[in-house]
Amino acid sequence: MERTFLMLKPDAVQRGLVGEVIQRFEKKGFKLVGLKLIQVDRTLAEAHYAEHRGKGFFEPTVSYIMSSPVVAMVWQGKNVVALARELMGATNPANSNPGSIRGMYGMDISRNVIHGSDSVESAGREIGLYFKPEELVDYQKAGDEWLS
Ligand code: PPS
Repeated sequence: MERTFLMLKPDAVQRGLVGEVIQRFEKKGFKLVGLKLIQVDRTLAEAHYAEHRGKGFFEPTVSYIMSSPVVAMVWQGKNVVALARELMGATNPANSNPGSIRGMYGMDISRNVIHGSDSVESAGREIGLYFKPEELVDYQKAGDEWLS
């Protein structure tokens, strides 16, 4: 079953949006298989945003993600990578669907509440950066039989 990496960014934690955003994914029907509150260090931050190294927003983005704790999560479900991106909305909240998470809660392209993997390949890489295999829990969830 497909998995994605989602991270509630410092603005989400500081603004008390953690529960509300997690609830969106739970209610959609995805299964939470990994979760932790962490303080990201520079090594992890630079590895996470490595593809953006050299761009003007690289250093501000790395510093921002280290500025306060984040909630790192792994979610599982059918087409979860693409569907999570739909629920999140466009990277820049100025262009996000108003009903999406960023459309509802985001105000700025850097403080945009949530990060989500942009492909199955990125998901595998990002999950590996943030989680050890033994930190992910697979389990049977009551109600799964109603989702397919
Ligand atoms: S892009 O434009 O295709 O490179 O954007 P994307 O790959 O979707 O994500 C870029 C991440 O960097 C954060 N960020 C910015 N992006 C673009 N422009 C500016 N000025 C900028 N500042 C910060 C943006 O929030 C994306 O973070 P994640 O964590 O991936 O959502």
